[in-house]
Amino acid sequence: MNSNGPEIKIIETKDYEIFSILARKFDLETSGIGDYFKAWVAISDGKKVGGISLKKKDKTYLLDIIAVDKNYQKKGLGKKLLLVVLKYLKKEKIPKVYVNTKVPEFFKKFNFKKIPRSKSPKFSDCWTCPQYNKTCFPTHMTLELKDFKSI
Ligand SMILES: CC(C)(COP(=O)(O)OP(=O)(O)OC[C@H]1O[C@@H](n2cnc3c(N)ncnc32)[C@H](O)[C@@H]1OP(=O)(O)O)[C@@H](O)C(=O)NCCC(=O)NCCS
Repeated sequence: MNSNGPEIKIIETKDYEIFSILARKFDLETSGIGDYFKAWVAISDGKKVGGISLKKKDKTYLLDIIAVDKNYQKKGLGKKLLLVVLKYLKKEKIPKVYVNTKVPEFFKKFNFKKIPRSKSPKFSDCWTCPQYNKTCFPTHMTLELKDFKSI
């Protein structure tokens, strides 16, 4: 991804410690670390430098954490992580995926559209989070996988 830096690999993981670290680092509200359907981690030089996790309930899919270590941001890694998940969902013929996010502009780039809170999955942490609309003001979004376009 970065012609000057070391190669970054993205692999599926069941070791969720990195998500606790990233959530703390970036103040990401999530009550259910580890309660994932699937998760992927980015590894550079043996170090975990980012990750993305997906939750699922019944037939509903929700992106939970996506985060990239500060030193690795703005180099395309967030995009690479998101594309791994979107390609997986598309391959599995999953029609849509949801996210509650503090960075809607990032998701807009991939054609995610804003939805009202009432349309966001009821199992998302936002519904029970005490910080919701007090210190945290997320944007609720969804992507129809048929509208997924790589950037
Ligand atoms: C959001 C985050 C994962 C993006 O990772 P990244 O590696 O910096 O993103 P990329 O370099 O892959 O950027 C991909 C595109 O999104 C854009 N982008 C990245 N972060 C953005 C932001 N905060 N706002 C608007 N656009 C953003 C980039 O400019 C780039 O656009 P381009 O292809 O037109 O140049 C990263 O900033 C992060 O970890 N933030 C802290 C944790 C967080 O808030 N996570 C979201 C929780 S839902």
